[in-house]
Amino acid sequence: MPNLSFANQSSLVSINGVITPPEEATVSVFDRGFLYGDSVYEVTLTYDDTPFLLDAHLDRLWHSATSIGMDINWSREKIKEYIDTGLKEVRALTDSKRYYIRVIITRGAGEIGLDPTLSNGQNLFIIFKPLPEINPAYYKDGVDLVVTDVIRNPKMAMDPNVKSGNYLNNVMAIRAAKEKGAYDAVMLNEKGFVTESTSANIWIVLGDKIITPPIEAGLLGGITRKSLIRIGLENELKIKEQNFSPETLSSADEVFITSSTREVLPVTKINGELIANGAPGPITKKLHALYKEFVKESCKS
Ligand SMILES: Cc1ncc(COP(=O)(O)O)c(C=O)c1O
Repeated sequence: MPNLSFANQSSLVSINGVITPPEEATVSVFDRGFLYGDSVYEVTLTYDDTPFLLDAHLDRLWHSATSIGMDINWSREKIKEYIDTGLKEVRALTDSKRYYIRVIITRGAGEIGLDPTLSNGQNLFIIFKPLPEINPAYYKDGVDLVVTDVIRNPKMAMDPNVKSGNYLNNVMAIRAAKEKGAYDAVMLNEKGFVTESTSANIWIVLGDKIITPPIEAGLLGGITRKSLIRIGLENELKIKEQNFSPETLSSADEVFITSSTREVLPVTKINGELIANGAPGPITKKLHALYKEFVKESCKS
């Protein structure tokens, strides 16, 4: 029997609103998400049983879909309802306190061919699983990144600000980084400026300035990135969006990356060379503390 399924027993998948055990959660080989990466997706997580910043993630899902000419067949309310149901059911399977939620909408199955009108209708998959714990040593010691030759796709090709199922260049980048024993890769754009890592936004600290590349550099507008820019400004920190080179990255006082699941993760080595003294810096720690406070406050409201 071919191995079609991946049975993580503590996960569940909602397929077009039907809760499906992991071993039965399969997709047609004629689905365009499988054939062409013709899909959009979002990842969020729960804090205190609630999906975090779900509206912001759904906004971005709609933005991604619109950008690829996909008119989502489900209402936001319906997707929220499916998420609620799935969360209730997955909680009954495990005693995990935190969950990972991935919402994927594919353009659906149909006769093979690139033309999107060949689709018979979209498919909505929502994956629920316990949130994997991030190695605490990563926060204590920082992680190492390498600058890869694989560039982030140019905005005019497939805009990186669309969270689509088409992540193959990022896959190639992280593959190159893993071959070098690094945690992840830093991807540049076609002009040689830093964009982001393969699945997180990147930031540097120069003196008291906190800098992250602008979305125009060709990167995904991270929801954590957006929150942190706002939190930083509210706390009168000098945050700006500005292009920088890989040389500036390597000689920064501090480097960190941000994403929903990792929050604020210090980077202490680039291309095998230490960043400053090789320990997570004070501004990175401060921003992470502020972000945690923001999470706590958001969960209260
Ligand atoms: C390419 C890329 N950049 C940045 C991020 C971080 O985005 P967010 O903060 O919304 O999780 C992600 C998230 O998965 C990503 O895939």
